[in-house]
Amino acid sequence: MTDPRLAELTRLLPDLKLSTDPGDLDHYGRDWTRRWTPAPLAVAWPASVGEVQAIVRWANGQGVAIVPSGGRTGLSGGAVAARGELVVSLDRMNRVLDVDPVDRTLTVEPGIALEAVQNAAREHGLLYPVNFAARGSCQIGGNIATNAGGIRVVRYGNTRQWIAGLKVVTGAGDLLDLNRGLVKNASGYDLRHLVIGSEGTLGIVVEATLSLTSPPPPSQVMLLAVPAMDALMKVFAEARRRLRLEAFEFFTDKALRYVLAHGAQKPFAEEHPFYVVTEFDAADGQAENDTLAFFEYCVGEGWVVDGVIASSEAQAASLWRLREGITESLAPHKPYKNDVSVRISAVPAFMDEMQTLLDAEYPYFEVVWFGHIGDGNLHINVLKPADLDDAAFVDQCEHVTTLLVETLVRHGGSISAEHGIGLVKKPWLGSVRSEAEIALMRGIKAVWDPNGIMNPGKLL
Ligand code: MLT
Ligand code: ZN
Repeated sequence: MTDPRLAELTRLLPDLKLSTDPGDLDHYGRDWTRRWTPAPLAVAWPASVGEVQAIVRWANGQGVAIVPSGGRTGLSGGAVAARGELVVSLDRMNRVLDVDPVDRTLTVEPGIALEAVQNAAREHGLLYPVNFAARGSCQIGGNIATNAGGIRVVRYGNTRQWIAGLKVVTGAGDLLDLNRGLVKNASGYDLRHLVIGSEGTLGIVVEATLSLTSPPPPSQVMLLAVPAMDALMKVFAEARRRLRLEAFEFFTDKALRYVLAHGAQKPFAEEHPFYVVTEFDAADGQAENDTLAFFEYCVGEGWVVDGVIASSEAQAASLWRLREGITESLAPHKPYKNDVSVRISAVPAFMDEMQTLLDAEYPYFEVVWFGHIGDGNLHINVLKPADLDDAAFVDQCEHVTTLLVETLVRHGGSISAEHGIGLVKKPWLGSVRSEAEIALMRGIKAVWDPNGIMNPGKLL
């Protein structure tokens, strides 16, 4: 290590795994946004809480910024290191530390993949219910830092709801042990919830105690073809009334075309403007009657024009693939991603207004809508036309985002529902959070991270 700051870190922590290899810098300096050129100072892989704490104290002393790094599946640039930061990868801290069947909690290190958390819960007959397509690669520490949502929020809520305890090394280098797995704890500000969704700007999560729940009864997966957004929202209301929903997701014909081109199986002979994948409890014969009655009612009202109910696990997985495969199938087209939310009741009007604006100003952009309609969370992906260079595309997409923000503000929505603000949406934070709110956020950051070393430039 020729850099004297890194030489000092090696002197302090001789066993710390540290790299300045260009391949590592490139790999660990980027997330799924792939918009910034990675340029970290180095990558460190601490193996213990003590090492994380020592790194943070060293960083404060040396004035080195830290980018905490999980699976880097983020879509907002929150884990990008492009300005000489030290990337602190939690890859090596990936163990299950404890399972408590009485408390129904799982205590884990932050670098464990979401899927490994789900499997560990399942081994004990329990469920960790947060779920989304990146589960095999994303890490629980990153899920906490972004308050990750996904495809089961309509039943189970976001990550926030499942965090019973957190150990955090603050930007000042203090180790906090927050809430300790308690169900009730009325002893003042709940600092745990400040860390959840803070995008690595306050500290580094070094341990999490997750709440688990009972697994749901066997479920059924259904794909519906829907002629219009108004109809789709009526289907949602009806489904919520009649079925015990676990998921209610939507995508458009355009999204389907990309997933099919990527190898998924065509669900219907005809094309339709909108599709819904829904999953709900189906434990007994009565449930089957309810499902059929629901489907027939929606068809009778003209809200649904075709449908398929999975009759095997393999078919359920292939229906889910139509929704979960969208991100991957769009990736080669360099999509500019927007992840917004409005109240569920405002979805059709918001979509209508936005699509009208897009058609008027950017008729040459292909825009793909999909998302967690049951949460009012829409993903709006603008695909890059082949004849537009990267910089011009981003410029125009930023203008699209400005139009989007104006429309969102009229509907009381948010510029990020679940991906976070990071670098990508930072210019628009002030449109959806008031000056007083942002001043409070800055004040909180200054207390937790007095030297501003934690993921600087992100969020605020
Ligand atoms: C999804 O819902 O599939 C994820 O948020 C990823 C994405 O928006 O591309
Ligand atoms: Zn999503």
